Amino acid sequence: MITKQDIPQELTVKIEKLSNLGLGIAKIDGYVIFVPNTCPDDVVKVKIGKKNKNYANADIIEIIEPSPDRTEPFCKLQKVCGACQLQFINYEAQLKYKKEIVQDVMKSIYGGSVDIKDVIPSPLIKEYRHKIQYPIGQTQNSKRILAGYYKTGSHELVNIKHCPVQPEYCDKIIDFIRTKSEELGISGYNENNGKGELRHVVIRSSNYNKNNLVILVVNSYKVSNKVNKLAKLIYNELENISGVVVNFNNKKTNLILGEKMEFIAGCDYIEEQLCDKIFKVGAKTFFQVNPLSADNIFKYVKKYIKDNFDSPTILDAYAGITAFGICMSDIVSKVVSIEEVKESVELAENIIQENCIKNIELHQGDAGKFLSNETLLGRQFHITILDPPRKGCTPNSLDYALKLTANKIIYVSCNPATLARDLKYLHEHGADVEYIQPFDMFPHTYHIENVAIIDLKNVQVPELKLPY
Ligand SMILES: C[S@@+](CC[C@H](N)C(=O)[O-])C[C@H]1O[C@@H](n2cnc3c(N)ncnc32)[C@H](O)[C@@H]1O
Repeated sequence: MITKQDIPQELTVKIEKLSNLGLGIAKIDGYVIFVPNTCPDDVVKVKIGKKNKNYANADIIEIIEPSPDRTEPFCKLQKVCGACQLQFINYEAQLKYKKEIVQDVMKSIYGGSVDIKDVIPSPLIKEYRHKIQYPIGQTQNSKRILAGYYKTGSHELVNIKHCPVQPEYCDKIIDFIRTKSEELGISGYNENNGKGELRHVVIRSSNYNKNNLVILVVNSYKVSNKVNKLAKLIYNELENISGVVVNFNNKKTNLILGEKMEFIAGCDYIEEQLCDKIFKVGAKTFFQVNPLSADNIFKYVKKYIKDNFDSPTILDAYAGITAFGICMSDIVSKVVSIEEVKESVELAENIIQENCIKNIELHQGDAGKFLSNETLLGRQFHITILDPPRKGCTPNSLDYALKLTANKIIYVSCNPATLARDLKYLHEHGADVEYIQPFDMFPHTYHIENVAIIDLKNVQVPELKLPY
């Protein structure tokens, strides 16, 4: 077996596959070398960085033989901006590699064999991203306002004038904010010394009616006259602005939005369509960034339920604005949903009332606690939809989900690693993973969304601990 001392500082390798973070993987006698910006079948000369016991990171010196899956990135900034790591790989091949990423993660974490379907592509591969979050900075001498994304692995801001994966109109909004902020003397944030007023611009952009909600995140606890003027100019002078809100975030944190907001003009949400229902999406509401791909997922889950059940009861856990529950409401007898963010539950309430939906019961709070209380109440559901954040579910939540669910768990996940971990846990407790259907929600990135269908007919309900 080769050791790290045997690996030279420069060498030529052939890339075999992509890691779950989209890095090319080459192997020298079992020793793993990760090379960013490479594609399987590339032959590349690389410079080795820090060597660890079993792996090293490396950078490309030269592409000796390019993979046939390479293509010219359509964005001029692809190499500098860290957002679209895989844009240099043609889209068909991206889908093939994303399926392999899910297969590899399942193999290494879940262990057993799982039927993984072909990835369902995103309906759009440009202008698909409807949530824009640009950090704002400022040049030291000329005081020009910068807005864009950070360079890969750094906090150096790339001033982005055009981002082809976002609706084109958002470029215009950002440009307007740059120009007017400079005219009004609004300073951009400096994360080194914590000074500067405008920290982020967030845009929620509707695919349904093309309206935009603009959120100005300021390093303050009140709206200054200048920011108030900027907000009003955005609302009055630009078209397709549903509203402008100011969010206050003066903490040293990586979180973009602070707790408090002040609403300045228009309304504080956009409208978006999923299935045949119109949803309201606010500044803090979780909503998938690719609405057309999300619509595919919601329709897919709805069809699965319709084809396999007759008016079932559904528990929609980690519900956001109860998008699953509301989409499914006309084919199920009852939906019970649980979500921790108050604003999302209020928006769900509003949509339910506007659509005169009678069979949904909404709850606000922690999903784990709620599931545990439900087991005490002795309720059961035919289907539980689990759609947790990237960290996945706790073992206790999975125990309760098993106890509360009679037939199927439908687990929707944006993180293959935590999905594999949780499927392993469910499998060890008797559940059978029928299959996984991946969806491409984020073209040109390594991210992949999965829907796992889990059958519970062989489950023996575990002894429950009551932690709460
Ligand atoms: C991936 S999102 C899914 C939302 C929704 N199912 C959808 O597709 O729009 C996860 C949601 O779980 C919520 N959440 C996170 N932790 C939670 C917890 N411990 N209890 C309840 N909800 C939680 C988040 O606020 C977010 O709305």
